[in-house]
Amino acid sequence: MTFSPQAITDAAIASFSKADNPRLKQIMQSLVKHLHAFAAETQLTEAEWMAGIQFLTATGHQCDEVRQEFILLSDTLGLSMLLVAMHDGAKHGATEATVLGPFHTPDAPPLPNGSDLSNGAPGEALYVTGRVKSAQGEALAHASVDIWQADAEGLYDVQRSELEHERRARGLIQTDAEGRFAFWSVLPEAYPVPTDGPVGQMLLSTGRHPWRPAHIHFLIAAEGHQPLVTHLFREGDQYLDSDVVFGVRPSLVGSFAHHAAGKAPDGSVRDQGFWTMDYEFVLQAV
Ligand code: BEZ
Ligand code: FE
Repeated sequence: MTFSPQAITDAAIASFSKADNPRLKQIMQSLVKHLHAFAAETQLTEAEWMAGIQFLTATGHQCDEVRQEFILLSDTLGLSMLLVAMHDGAKHGATEATVLGPFHTPDAPPLPNGSDLSNGAPGEALYVTGRVKSAQGEALAHASVDIWQADAEGLYDVQRSELEHERRARGLIQTDAEGRFAFWSVLPEAYPVPTDGPVGQMLLSTGRHPWRPAHIHFLIAAEGHQPLVTHLFREGDQYLDSDVVFGVRPSLVGSFAHHAAGKAPDGSVRDQGFWTMDYEFVLQAV
């Protein structure tokens, strides 16, 4: 038995060779190989790895039912978005996907097509229209469109303790027979990811900002099609080129138009200026 660094790496990789599950074996052997290569490349010291272990421990301690600091770590290291991009159906002509993020809830209120889902959220009025279709261009009727977004103060309803179980700037809408949907909401603003935990410390100590460019989240599901998890970003946002979770794709930047007070596209009359945005979503067949 030799104790050269390479011999230790080889022994650690070989220790998984009898794993029954071939995929688990592949993942564990590759993980050890790359973890050891990282330590060798950086000549990682024991004190530095102990600091790393303390960081991971603090990350675990920051997690509870509503806060998942490990997902935030995966997001800010670009790993979440790498996996999305690797497995995305967009290569077959579908709308590009992006990260789900931590603010989706399974209880968005079902609302009629054309509703106002803002429910008192602060911000300028925004009217969103969209269409959901297949890669062959057929309208997808009765698709479910799950929408959630931050308000003008950069906060999601779930981040406001005063709202408890009330839902704001969040809703579930079904497309009509032509695959169309519409809703009123508020203009989203850029916001920082949570910075009061170890991931925030990591961003601060490495000179990274914590901001995400303004966006609206969509989870669209239609029978016979792969669910699409994506966002639409606000054009012109100062963080489009430096999203802290690397989630921006140029095809997902929407055109937001401002209008003076008056008649809106749904026939309602607005006594203040408002915004509109229109987008066509394409879903990949299963
Ligand atoms: C979000 O867009 O909601 C989000 C995504 C990743 C990390 C934090 C927030
Ligand atoms: Fe978000």
